[in-house]
Amino acid sequence: MNETIRFRIRRSPADGGAGNGYQEYDVPFTRGMSVMDGLDYIYEHLDGSLAYYDHAACNQGICRRCLARIDGQTGLLCQTLVTADTTVEPIPTQDVERDLVTKRGRDRNG
Ligand code: FES
Repeated sequence: MNETIRFRIRRSPADGGAGNGYQEYDVPFTRGMSVMDGLDYIYEHLDGSLAYYDHAACNQGICRRCLARIDGQTGLLCQTLVTADTTVEPIPTQDVERDLVTKRGRDRNG
């Protein structure tokens, strides 16, 4: 049996112009997969235009570069396990560079 997880991802162009919105992708579920694993699958198999902090960071919950909003809660993409359909958005208080990538150090609250 092949089970899939639907990822709903907030997309936004670099220029902040037309095209802001959510895009959905169906990803094969594997036990123990993280949200980051799902994004990696999307990037590698479905849509190479998706922008996010990837495993080039640490993938161990240390660097916190992958902080995002996951199903309405702030969390690390690399440490949050996928258990059901998942919505991923950038942190709302940070300036978005593109999709899930924010301008570090330019947090509007920081
Ligand atoms: S990649 Fe470093 S905390 Fe997630």
